[in-house]
Amino acid sequence: MSAQIIDGKSLAEKLRGQLKADVAEFQSQTGIVPHLAAVLVGDDPASAVYVRNKQRACEKAGIRSTLHRLPSETTETELLDLVQQLNRDDSVHGILVQLPLPPQIRETAILDAVVPMKDVDCFHPENVGLMVQGRPRYLPCTPSGCQLLIQESGFETAGAHAVILGRSEIVGKPMAMLLVQKGAVANATVTIAHSRTKNLAELVRQADLIVAAIGKPKFVTAEMVKPGACVIDVGINRLDDGTLVGDVDYEAVKEVAGAITPVPGGVGPMTIAMLLQNTLTAARLLS
Ligand code: GUN
Repeated sequence: MSAQIIDGKSLAEKLRGQLKADVAEFQSQTGIVPHLAAVLVGDDPASAVYVRNKQRACEKAGIRSTLHRLPSETTETELLDLVQQLNRDDSVHGILVQLPLPPQIRETAILDAVVPMKDVDCFHPENVGLMVQGRPRYLPCTPSGCQLLIQESGFETAGAHAVILGRSEIVGKPMAMLLVQKGAVANATVTIAHSRTKNLAELVRQADLIVAAIGKPKFVTAEMVKPGACVIDVGINRLDDGTLVGDVDYEAVKEVAGAITPVPGGVGPMTIAMLLQNTLTAARLLS
């Protein structure tokens, strides 16, 4: 039997519709238009597409979005100056610095400089700390989007063994923290697997829930998936022929899994919806 396909595009559209109404209500009560400032350094084409998609989604939801584009030679000091200017600007509620940054700029130096109240990506150590302790100010966009997709599928996470592939600060680590917490779509037993994990295929085969976030095209094969498992694919990889594929061999795995997210149309749209949600939260917190 073929897996349930978890439709992230349609769930994200539903959330964005609700959010648009919430933004309009907030604006009518306060006179304030939530405002996201996006910063894009260099000319990585994928990053440019991601930022454009985020901006379009903002505009559709009634959120103001401004883009600050800097050349790839920008120094760390120049970027810090811009971040500090956005920190001080009372009309800006959320600041998003698109990653990756060029090699001459230390990402931690920049992300630590974003004032925590405007950190809608939930990358600042203060916000990560609050999230880990179960009292979040903001939720990390991609992991919380994955959580909503798991909820949408009806999969019961309580007591389930979740194996997360990848230990990044953006996805793997915060995803583990959300799933292990007490609460809804959580209470899982979590394993974080990575490039140094021994007997990886065997470990993944034990998982009731797999979250793949390693950036390797079609890494998770049908043989690595327990029949009926829920599979969330965070990967976006462009093959030489231009096609986009996830970290999961979708065509083969959907014949084994109980539920699976497609790429595109799975996690990606949810990340954007959660960013918009955080921007409205930021406008509320700052006014
Ligand atoms: N690069 C890849 N994913 C993300 C994200 O969620 N936020 C930012 N700022 N950059 C990214």
